[in-house]
Amino acid sequence: MWPLASHHSFKINNYASEVFNVTSVADARSVVDLDSFLILGEGTNTLFVDNYDGVIVKSDITGISLQESQSGWHIRVGAQENWHDFVTWTLAKNMYGLENLVLIPGSVGAAPVQNIGAYGVEVSQYIQSVEAIHISTGEVHTIANDECDFSYRDSVFKRNPRSWLITHVNFYIPKAWQPNLSYPALADLKSQASISARTIADTVIAIRSSKLPDPNKIPNAGSFFKNPVVSVERYQQLIGDFPNLVGFEVDSGYKLAAGWLIECLGLKGTCCGDCCVHNKQALVLVNRGHATGDDVLALCRLIQQRVEQAFSVMLEPEVRLIGRNGLIDDVANYQ
Ligand code: EPU
Repeated sequence: MWPLASHHSFKINNYASEVFNVTSVADARSVVDLDSFLILGEGTNTLFVDNYDGVIVKSDITGISLQESQSGWHIRVGAQENWHDFVTWTLAKNMYGLENLVLIPGSVGAAPVQNIGAYGVEVSQYIQSVEAIHISTGEVHTIANDECDFSYRDSVFKRNPRSWLITHVNFYIPKAWQPNLSYPALADLKSQASISARTIADTVIAIRSSKLPDPNKIPNAGSFFKNPVVSVERYQQLIGDFPNLVGFEVDSGYKLAAGWLIECLGLKGTCCGDCCVHNKQALVLVNRGHATGDDVLALCRLIQQRVEQAFSVMLEPEVRLIGRNGLIDDVANYQ
């Protein structure tokens, strides 16, 4: 049995059957022989609600290499590098573009899986390709950005979790830089005559630190739910009933701030056992001490039910919830 508490940021004391460290393509090929396995990076978006009856696969590939062209920088990064350290490294080298994504927990290899995003930027805007081992054949593929099928917190890697083991991510950062201040929380910076990437990074760090609990101090897995998208008609009905509703127009309708829906129902600070709605950001659930998987599932269901009753909107988990047999795709019926 392999203890999981220190391998996922929600820190529930569950176990996996064993761990398998991948250090070469040959190792990756043998993953196909495992009946049940789960690929894990730093575990900041994965929450084990039960003992996992399978093998945890971890890859151990680090290193950063850099090539400069006239128009920008090509950077190849090993999957196990830490995301925030990598962003800090780019900024120190005066390469600008990733500053809105500072302080996101997790590894570089996990970034494309759920297309991490914050403060108006998604990582897919800077990914040129992803190098990954196709687990069933053992072949190494370089998957171009348009083949990754990126969308909001989604990608081909997330939809096929047993198919790819990411080894490296290739970024392209153009030298021509435009600050991205599109996110409302950064709008105040627009009044400054000239704005630097460092100022944006410092502002994002200040906002994140004031709202989001540091997983090293208060165990959590970031946003627990995705922001749901509703049709224009549904949005108009809702805004009639709830004039302060927060929503942003997207291609397919309106993306609602799930944190607002949860806060509006007075659920901030609500707990099931030791799993609680964070009192500064309602989209984040925290482990205040000895939360169990049942506490997490109970609070998740309670929030889903209350939001559905009040707004007729179903919230979907953003974190990967892992049960005995792997990914839980139907929280309501998991026992
Ligand atoms: N809001 C509330 N109450 C709350 C939380 C939010 O009213 O408790 C309202 C805010 O007032 C604001 C709006 O909701 O108007 C949006 O809130 P915020 O800027 O905090 O962002 P979010 O939609 O809650 C998303 C991402 C975060 C990312 C931030 C900033 C998702 C699921 N979450 O959160 O990502 O840091 O935007 O870009 O898309 C993560 O994925 O783990 C994560 C933290």
